[in-house]
Order: sequence, then structure tokens, then C-alpha cells
Amino acid sequence: MVAEIKSIDQLINEAKTAFRQQFKDEPNVAVYAPGRVNLIGEHTDYNDGFVMPMALPLVTVIVGKKMTGNDVTIYTTFDFENEEKQTTFELPQPTALIRAINKDGPKWAVYVKGVIANYIGNIPSAFNAVIHSSVPLGGGLSSSAALEVATYTFLDQLTSSKTKVSVNDKALACQKAEHEYAGVPCGIMDQFISFMGKEGHALLIDCRHLTSILIPFSDQNVVILITNSNVKHELTGSEYSSRRKQCEEAAMLLKKVSLRDANMDDIKYLESINTGKEIVSRARHVITEITRTTLAAEMLKQRNFCKFGELMTESHKSLRLDYEVSCPELDQLVDLALEVDGVLGSRMTGGGFGGCTVTLVYSQSVQKVVDNIKNKYKGQPTFYVCKASSGASAVPCSCK
Ligand code: GLA
Repeated sequence: MVAEIKSIDQLINEAKTAFRQQFKDEPNVAVYAPGRVNLIGEHTDYNDGFVMPMALPLVTVIVGKKMTGNDVTIYTTFDFENEEKQTTFELPQPTALIRAINKDGPKWAVYVKGVIANYIGNIPSAFNAVIHSSVPLGGGLSSSAALEVATYTFLDQLTSSKTKVSVNDKALACQKAEHEYAGVPCGIMDQFISFMGKEGHALLIDCRHLTSILIPFSDQNVVILITNSNVKHELTGSEYSSRRKQCEEAAMLLKKVSLRDANMDDIKYLESINTGKEIVSRARHVITEITRTTLAAEMLKQRNFCKFGELMTESHKSLRLDYEVSCPELDQLVDLALEVDGVLGSRMTGGGFGGCTVTLVYSQSVQKVVDNIKNKYKGQPTFYVCKASSGASAVPCSCK
């Protein structure tokens, strides 16, 4: 069965109800920010390369209200094992040179704290807020960036700041929040698409120049099926930073700023100087993936979904064999999808070691893919059929 996706209005209403229960008050600010699925261009963002995600209709919403004093109180509707659902912390003093916020308390709150600490402009005022979300947590659909970007958008509403801050700078501030407060050295893709997504479009992002091109992606004949493996292997964090370091080492050996500047001749060179096998294959993935991504963007423009799908499947192979960030569950989901007639391509999406796959499939075949996976996959998958949706935004809040 394909999961039903709640509308933004429904989520906001649920969040408002929770706010009334928790704070015995009416919220007057409401915002949302989407999760994303990356169609192609994996582990290329921190190599200055290209990525092509789309924003999802799965979103994180925040509703809240400005308060006097110095305390922020946030409540999440999620049930985290062994974690408080509500936390209160003090804002830094307006005169503070460094805006440090205590990282104690529940882990989910560090994303909010990180964004407050990195918010561009005056320190936001105290507030109460409720966080509610339909983005599956830790599922590789960027639940953390959705929370960061929702927080930034919420603070913008709260402060009604007159300073014009570019979306790029906002995305960079959210990325910094994740680096400093969650300790994840992520690239820029997730925060960028969560701000910049547009309904009916994929976004080709040049992660070196932080520029992007919207590519129309709405065709009745094909759909994007996301399958959540519902597994998350512990390796995720440590392996992510070790891949980043291996890429930097390859670039250094090649005397290049980043692997964005490398090509297949450089792979031959690395081999000729007896570079370790792992470093060579990591570099090969990044170089070939950047090429696949720009080609996929062309194919999407031409609505050549067959070729686009082939590139997705090649991307998976490269992530599995060269970058080694897949896992048996993701490989099985990709194989099971590809068994079905009408599937154009399938691959893991996001950081890897669990999370989701993304499959491009003719609309009339999507149920067959779901059935095939349900019959043969060893775990408990969740399915979402998703259209490219819009980026973060405030929502008018009628209750002032
Ligand atoms: C995670 C990171 C992104 C990106 C992907 C892999 O989602 O947050 O910046 O590096 O992994 O493509």
C-alpha cells in the first residue's frame, strides 16, 4: 500500500491543536519546509559537483508565537525513544559576540538551536513553538534539513527582519547549523532544495557556484516512487565523513581544488602513481556521477525518460561498487524494482547505508512495483508516490 501524504493544511492544523494543548494559547506564525528526494548526483555536492533533487510533499511544519523574556520552548509531536518531547533553553544575549547555545537536552532540538545560533541578523526573540512533520526521520529524505529550513523560515516570520538575506546565505547558515550543532559535515544540497524547490520541477544545482536551473518535471505518464527500506545502519555518520576525506585526498593527489575539476584521465594518473584502490574508486564514482547528472538534466529537458532512468540505475551501481555506500536492503529494493516491466530506473537516494530508494516508473506500472517489493523484500517497506513540490514558505495564520 502506498502511504497517504497529509496536506500542508492538515499538518498545520494538527500542529496548531498541539500548540493549544501544550501552551494554552493560539499560535500566530506558521511555516513549512519540505524534505527532498535526490533524483541523481549522489555524494557530489561536497565535491563542488552537480546534484538534481526535487522537493517533496513531505514537509516539516512549525507553528508558534513570539514571547517576551529570553526563553525558547519547543515541543515536537514525534515520539523519540528516550527523549523529551519538550525543551526550554535560553537565547544568547543580544550583545553576545559568539551566539553559542547549550547543546544539552533532546537531540532533535540541536537543529533548532543551530539555526538560531547561525541566523543572519538580530538574535530572534523568545518564542514557543510546535514542530510537526510528515518527513520520515532518518530515512534519507532530509528530515534534518527540512527542520533547519523550517526553523529559519519561522525565525524570518518572527523577526520580520528588514535585512535582505539571499536564499544562498540562508541555506549556508542552515548547513553550518548542521555542521556545528549536529556534527554532520553535510554538503549544501538538502538545505538548498528545501528553500528553492518548485512545484512540477526538479532542480539542477551547481554546488560550486551555488546556482541552479529549474527543469520541468511533471508528466502524467511517469511517476517517482520512493521506497523506504526502514533500515538505518549505524555506519551512516562515520562513513560519510570518511568518504569526504577520501575525496579530498584524491583531489589533493591530483593537485585540484576538488574532484569537480577531475576527469577520467586523472583516474589513470592516480592508478599510475599506485594510489590506494579505495581512493581511486571513490574518485571514479564522483567523476562519473557528475557527468551522469549533467547528462540526466539534458535528458529530463528532452523528456527522454528512458535514458534518464538508465542513468539512475548506473548511478546506483557506482554507489554500490565504487563508493560503497549502499547496503543489502537498498540493493534488494533496486533489484526488485528493476524486475518489473515499466520501470525506467532505480537507485538509492541520500547518504546511503539505509533509507530510501527512488524509482522512475511508468504510471500504469507503479502498483506492480509495490506488489513485487511487498512480496519479496525481507523488511517492512513504506512507499510514497511523490510529485515535485514547492520549497519552504510561510503560511497565513488566521488566528492572530
Ligand atoms: C546527505 C547530505 C547531502 C549529500 C548526500 C549525498 O544527504 O546531507 O549533503 O552529501 O548525503 O549525496
